[in-house]
Amino acid sequence: MSTAVELAQKHWNDTPLYYSEAYRYSMYPWLHEAAEFDGHCGERVLEIGCGTGSDLLQFARSGACAVGIDIADGQIELARERVGNAATVIKATATDLPFEDRSFDYVYSHGVLHHIDNPQRVVREIMRVLVPGGHFSIHVYSLFSYAALRARLRYGGRWRLYVENSTAPVRIDLYTKFSLCRLFPVPITVTKREAPFLEKWFGWFLIVKGQRPGSALSRPRPA
Ligand SMILES: C[S@@+](CC[C@H](N)C(=O)[O-])C[C@H]1O[C@@H](n2cnc3c(N)ncnc32)[C@H](O)[C@@H]1O
Repeated sequence: MSTAVELAQKHWNDTPLYYSEAYRYSMYPWLHEAAEFDGHCGERVLEIGCGTGSDLLQFARSGACAVGIDIADGQIELARERVGNAATVIKATATDLPFEDRSFDYVYSHGVLHHIDNPQRVVREIMRVLVPGGHFSIHVYSLFSYAALRARLRYGGRWRLYVENSTAPVRIDLYTKFSLCRLFPVPITVTKREAPFLEKWFGWFLIVKGQRPGSALSRPRPA
């Protein structure tokens, strides 16, 4: 049986997820605020699972020293083309980040953790590479959401095949605020985004924000 990493590599190597910036941010108008693209000028920002690099480029344009990692060569190639010299893209897995302890001020990840079969290890890695006081923003799929219900009603037990950008199988876990609070070893805030109505209750993305404990940085949160 294939591992979650092998499935993800095959899925996104065969069908890279490439959208123009204009299309992506018209699809997710809330992402700018949730990701805090403008809030990390002068900081070291790590994006886990940067895909084809659209979000990574936003951080770099806003003055961050931006580094993205991903495991799919097809995505990495397109990300490097998109960001040019503005940011660095490295092939690596989220469960084993190739960085020293305390290397980043901010860690961001959109739509990745729910494809990984060892999220506890990813969270440990996030905490390890953050400086004390550094923040994270991690976006995952929500169990209690309009999108999950619609996919289940439409496709039954095979719904997972119809969620991503191709029907190649890929691991997908759905999270709740409760499971996220158990997963993260620090206090977090969780909000929902992305639904045609009552987003706060039925949004598809859970936006998880928190901070590595410590006072080395006493940065205020971006407005
Ligand atoms: C749905 S795509 C999201 C990409 C990008 N963040 C975006 O929003 O467009 C999921 C990405 O996670 C990457 N990924 C999956 N498992 C990973 C792992 N263990 N380590 C690093 N990246 C991983 C995939 O290769 C893919 O690029």
